[in-house]
Amino acid sequence: MNLWRSLSARRRAFAITGASVLVAGGLVTIPVTAAQAATQCSIDYTTNDWSSGFTGSITIRNVGDPISSWNLGFTFPNSSQRVVQGWSAKWSQSGQNVTVTNESYNGSLASGGSATIGFNGSWSGSNPKPTSFTLNGVVCNGGVTPTTPPPTTPPPTTPPPTTPPPTTPPPTTPPPTTPPPGQKVDNPYVGVKGYVNPEWKAKADAEAGGSRVSNNPTAVWLDRIAAINGTTDSSSNGAMGVKDHLDAALAQGAGYIQFVIYNLPGRDCSALASNGELAADELPRYKAEYIDPIAAIQSNPKYASLRIINIIEIDSLPNLVTNTSGNAGGTVQCDVVKANGAYVNGVGYALSKLGPIGSVYNYIDAGHHGWLGWDTNFGPTADVLKTAAVASGSNVNYVHGFITNTANYSALKEPYIKITDSVNGQTVRQSKWIDWNFYVDELTFAQAFRTKLVSVGFNSNIGMLIDTSRNGWGGTARPTGPGASTSVDTYVNGGRVDRRFHAGNWCNQVGAGLGERPKANPEPGIDAYVWVKPPGESDGSSSLIPNNEGKGFDRMCDPTYTGNARNGNSMSGALPNAPISGAWFSAQFQELMKNAYPAL
Ligand code: GLC
Repeated sequence: MNLWRSLSARRRAFAITGASVLVAGGLVTIPVTAAQAATQCSIDYTTNDWSSGFTGSITIRNVGDPISSWNLGFTFPNSSQRVVQGWSAKWSQSGQNVTVTNESYNGSLASGGSATIGFNGSWSGSNPKPTSFTLNGVVCNGGVTPTTPPPTTPPPTTPPPTTPPPTTPPPTTPPPTTPPPGQKVDNPYVGVKGYVNPEWKAKADAEAGGSRVSNNPTAVWLDRIAAINGTTDSSSNGAMGVKDHLDAALAQGAGYIQFVIYNLPGRDCSALASNGELAADELPRYKAEYIDPIAAIQSNPKYASLRIINIIEIDSLPNLVTNTSGNAGGTVQCDVVKANGAYVNGVGYALSKLGPIGSVYNYIDAGHHGWLGWDTNFGPTADVLKTAAVASGSNVNYVHGFITNTANYSALKEPYIKITDSVNGQTVRQSKWIDWNFYVDELTFAQAFRTKLVSVGFNSNIGMLIDTSRNGWGGTARPTGPGASTSVDTYVNGGRVDRRFHAGNWCNQVGAGLGERPKANPEPGIDAYVWVKPPGESDGSSSLIPNNEGKGFDRMCDPTYTGNARNGNSMSGALPNAPISGAWFSAQFQELMKNAYPAL
């Protein structure tokens, strides 16, 4: 969800209510003018609360003159109270202020008429009722004359009946788990529990200490066509296909499930470890044999009550910006998929087929700060993401948000370094580690990139996800304060929690730990912290291992490798003896648990 709205948007929301203004202490009623006096209303607000959520029901009763449309306003007393999903009206929330407008079929309310609307909400601490409601800008006081009425306001000519019979019976409230078809919630992670992939859980449970983390939701990677129906022949991924996972999610009572769409033609064009089965010119197969069958299963009405989250094509679009000719380390394969449109059209096609499904939420991969945090990459990547979002019949409404740091290790927060810090008059941007980047951690990057994406044409309510599966950086090597102020390098290297040799290192990193556990709505602009890369699954083999999945050997996974231009000619920092990407790597899982932050 994105509640990171601008101040001017908040002001607009207040303007709608008209008769109420917000001051530091809450709602203040200002006198109702003669022109508004004919609107009178009473509100019945009830909730059914459970541990972190609730269902609210509101009956709006018109006890004034007939109205042809309505706009209801109220303010939640607590900042934790959120509307997650509403029905029988159009709902929006800005800060604690909620605005609800009628649907075409329930806008007209006769004198004495009523409409009942409902919503699912979330809360923490307590869930008090709003103390005041406005209808079309007028405070609802049940038709009772305001206690201090302006002397010139005449009483309504026809006094409202004290207990008016509803003109239509109140609609029955739909069960909270079944949103009206086609109506997507702002943040699919809020108020519901995530699907725990039983195949990953079994591997985690088989590890000593693994049961401490094995109940976390992780994503299901559809990394080849065979994964759609389940594979039996492979060292990675499992026998369960898309349908099996969706059925298991229903059986678990999960509210959301996460899939990774990851099979573009010419996949992983800048590296070798996750090259895939489709050649660069096989876009027709990607569409017909991969996306279409996934869309067919995800659109089965049986799964309409699940929020199906698709993470779209890791690393692909950023590679078109940074790893093509003209850039240090550009590759021939990236030039090919840029020139033939395989990535842009493949992503556009995936969005265009999956986006229209009522229960599907698409989040496109958007690299990470250590990759895109320079101006030369930041804006151009936002532009390529936009180009893909409107390619192949797609449009920006099929994009619910973006994900950063997928399968990467960038620290969520660097508590001891701000990008604006300087040491002896020199900006920390000048340090070897930061290397003129504009961001020092993933949270600041994701929030800023969100703003950039909105500015290039994505919807203003997009939300970001951050993969926190392996960016914890706890353990004994974690600094506890800033580095020495001798130079920008001592300051940054002494204080940074990300202990990699270089922020461009991406394979099976020594010293990394599990990061924040999956969590909805953790920060403004961030829909959730998620575990997309299943902890314990390798990023790539440390030496060549023959396989039938197209996986190559990338020296960034070789602990003896001394690097290249893209990682500042640094050591790879990879753990030894790793299996091919996606295969279970017990030593890495243990390393991740040992260095978890927050600690286990
Ligand atoms: C890698 C692999 C893929 C695997 C995924 C999750 O990118 O290439 O096969 O499913 O990681 O571990």
